[in-house]
Amino acid sequence: MDRDRTVLVTGGAGYIGSHTVRALHEAGVPVVVVDSLELGRADAVGPVDLVVGDIADGAVIRQICEDYQVGAVVHFAAYKNVGESMTDPGKYLRNNLTGTINLLEALTAAGVDEIVFSSSCSVYGTPAIVPVDETAAIAPESVYAQTKATMETLLDWYCRTKGMRSVSLRYFNAAGASADAVIGEDWTYSMNLVPVAIRSLLIGEPAELTVFGDDYPTPDGTCVRDYIHVDDLAAAHLRALSYLAAGGVTTAVNVGTGTGSSVREVLAAIEAVAGRPVPHRIGPRREGDPVSTFADPRRAQELLGWEATRDLAEVVGSAYRWHLAQVNEPE
Ligand code: WQD
Repeated sequence: MDRDRTVLVTGGAGYIGSHTVRALHEAGVPVVVVDSLELGRADAVGPVDLVVGDIADGAVIRQICEDYQVGAVVHFAAYKNVGESMTDPGKYLRNNLTGTINLLEALTAAGVDEIVFSSSCSVYGTPAIVPVDETAAIAPESVYAQTKATMETLLDWYCRTKGMRSVSLRYFNAAGASADAVIGEDWTYSMNLVPVAIRSLLIGEPAELTVFGDDYPTPDGTCVRDYIHVDDLAAAHLRALSYLAAGGVTTAVNVGTGTGSSVREVLAAIEAVAGRPVPHRIGPRREGDPVSTFADPRRAQELLGWEATRDLAEVVGSAYRWHLAQVNEPE
């Protein structure tokens, strides 16, 4: 990786962003973060410079690029609540798409042309074949997922017309926290399985986790996903930046472990680390849930030299220790 050029991280005070910022900083790469702090936390950025601002504000982005000699960007800043995107689509379309267009315009003006983009496995919707590879059809099933797919397309057009190069990293189910429990996911806003199960176990909110269906055609009847440790995800961003710095062409890459885990397996892994049961009940299926989705991660290995190094036990173990630390030492 090029250690002379600063990497600008949008949304670097958020969950995956803050882990990536930390990994960059620890690798000796100069970093600057821009984050509105609407959902991010300033303390998650650590010792790195933070500019509190909106990515849609071109003047702010151009000034950062000039002040810090920015050479590449990792773009996380976006709303990410799937359910909310279906009840308030305009909020998602306006924020995620307008923000990205304005960001790309400002970067073009500033002459910054290497971008790693925070995309999502949700661009595939319900994949016809698993493991899913990058040639699968793009078929979003939520407004959120559509914004990710469209942001990939916007990037493609800036690459074709403005000489940018980008890597869209299609994350599978991000979970876990830093091994030292210093940064992790804020469970206040999360409806995802791992934080909700641990929240239920630690503070009884909710009193019981609802398992969304146990009558699926899977080995134990519950849905299967690919849970990827957030520090493995962070490492993928560093590899993608190196790939672009070496002249790599625009591409999209799955970032997953290649292993599917069922909801019951996740709950069992949490129970193993906590030493007590996750209170739960079986409820109806959740509308729009794919039965099973997990990555074919071979392109990430071949192109970026990246593969996941942490298993489900480490994913839920680190998440558990992080949330436990938050409960014991509330800020
Ligand atoms: C995981 C599994 C649920 C909560 C989301 C986004 C997707 C991508 C990855 C970012 C499913 C089950 C969950 C609960 C449950 N993110 N579950 N009870 O929906 O696979 O994917 O994260 O781009 O876009 O949609 O994640 O954590 O909500 O669900 O039984 O209270 O856990 O049915 O099988 P999902 P999730």
